[in-house]
Amino acid sequence: MVTSYDYPTSTIADAVGVDSILVGDSYGMVVLGYDTTIPVTMEEILPACRAVRRGSTKSLLIGDMPFMSFQVSGEDAVRNAGRFVKEGGMEAVKVEGGRQVAPAVEAISSAGIPVLGHIGVTPQTATLQGGYRVQGKTADDGERLFKDALALEKAGVFGIVLEMVTEETAKLVTETLSVPTIGIGSGRYCNGQVLVLHDVLGLYQKFTPKFAKRYVDLAMPIRDALQRYSQEVRTGSFPGEEHVFRMDTDQRAKLEAKRKT
Ligand code: KIV
Repeated sequence: MVTSYDYPTSTIADAVGVDSILVGDSYGMVVLGYDTTIPVTMEEILPACRAVRRGSTKSLLIGDMPFMSFQVSGEDAVRNAGRFVKEGGMEAVKVEGGRQVAPAVEAISSAGIPVLGHIGVTPQTATLQGGYRVQGKTADDGERLFKDALALEKAGVFGIVLEMVTEETAKLVTETLSVPTIGIGSGRYCNGQVLVLHDVLGLYQKFTPKFAKRYVDLAMPIRDALQRYSQEVRTGSFPGEEHVFRMDTDQRAKLEAKRKT
């Protein structure tokens, strides 16, 4: 699984056979430039979902429910999840949180919309967790995650993202659940892995988390291309002969004559 928020990258992810594309609320940080994912709204994320839908034919498409789009009431959660499917073209939604979001999960999945859970570090409520801290470091904390995972499974999730959970806890949770786990910073024993696209491509310059692998540093060639472009425009070497459209010579002569009259 990888995140995508636009048509070109979802086309590429789909073409290389990525099983699932997540239109994550990380969109708020890596594309919109917010400091956290908290400000992201339904009105911001739905157009990104539609663009991803247009680029993808095979991958399972999952929309990430923004902070406060599923917490207020079950009715609100179902209505917003429905918007992801009807207006955003998504096939499933993801919600952050442990047992406290089980009623929302139950309501959404009872309405016929598949739900992916997300426990461990939950960026929408990271303040409550004291920041982005690795979860499941102690037996008690591991047990808490275990109980959260089981409550979500009982509520009807089809899988669970484990973010920044110790490898030992993630392995035990994975072995216990009957639904798959998708890890991000949670080690090698999850059933699948997810990364934020801009971390994979080196396009998010503010920071790269320890768990992310940068497969390419695209910021460099982009910077280089834009530098060359602006230089060529300033020096007059772009556009060149090969980029221009021409008029017939008789039309040109007529136009010049018009200018003189
Ligand atoms: O928003 C996001 O990209 C996510 C992934 C990190 C799982 O929730």
